[in-house]
Amino acid sequence: MTTIRQHDTSPKVGPRHVAVIMDGNGRWAKSRGKPRLFGHHAGVKRVKEIVRACPDLEVKYLTVFAFSTENWKRTQAEVTGLMKLFRRYIASEARDLLAEGVRVRFIGDRVQLDAKLRRVMDEIELLTSGNDRVHLTVALNYGGRDELGRATKRLAREVAAGRLDAETVDETTLARFLDTCFLPDPDLVIRTSGEARISNFLLWQSAYSEYEFVNTLWPDFTAAEFARVLAQYGTRERRFGAVPA
Ligand code: IPE
Ligand code: IPE
Ligand code: MG
Repeated sequence: MTTIRQHDTSPKVGPRHVAVIMDGNGRWAKSRGKPRLFGHHAGVKRVKEIVRACPDLEVKYLTVFAFSTENWKRTQAEVTGLMKLFRRYIASEARDLLAEGVRVRFIGDRVQLDAKLRRVMDEIELLTSGNDRVHLTVALNYGGRDELGRATKRLAREVAAGRLDAETVDETTLARFLDTCFLPDPDLVIRTSGEARISNFLLWQSAYSEYEFVNTLWPDFTAAEFARVLAQYGTRERRFGAVPA
């Protein structure tokens, strides 16, 4: 089991868990006169660069938003293209990620995903399960409200089965039923592409996260810019509701 440390109130040490809303692939492609999928291909390549930058920046947990429960509203061609891209990418990167000490896990509802994609997801999770250098969590068919709905259902089942006393249920109980039960809360959430919204990402977990909204489109987001955003985080004071000393 991973031991989960409490929130860090002195950001000088840098964020331990960074979550990223990788947005702007479509606009990046459009500005080049290319189809949206061209942007998604470019975006996926960036993930590797950011993962590789994590150890030096002392980021232990990186969580990336790859596909939301709302992204099914896009054209069938885009959705199918994305699913194929995820499957190919996971399969082709598995060996490198294993060698680099990256532990890969997924959050989100897998039930609706294609069987072939689910298989590569299961395989890479198992393959990298012994790694501990960087914990990469990919949010795929993930939505914060959907996650809370599924967690509540599982929790209700436990109560109905008599395995859990409803009177003892509190926020720590609910957190145990979330997809993110193995993760500490994100210290920093970064969103690229200039949009300043959360789009259903880690609603519960980001209660006290710091946010950075950057204008760069995701396919242009380099490791150098990632490092700059983390340095900016280091200048903030996290209070968690208390009065600073
Ligand atoms: C983010 O880029 C990737 C996914 C949501 C899958 P977008 O596809 O949302 O790109 P924009 O926002 O249209 O530019
Ligand atoms: C959020 O981006 C989802 C991912 C980055 C995977 P969207 O592009 O889907 O969000 P909205 O629709 O602009 O809020
Ligand atoms: Mg978008």
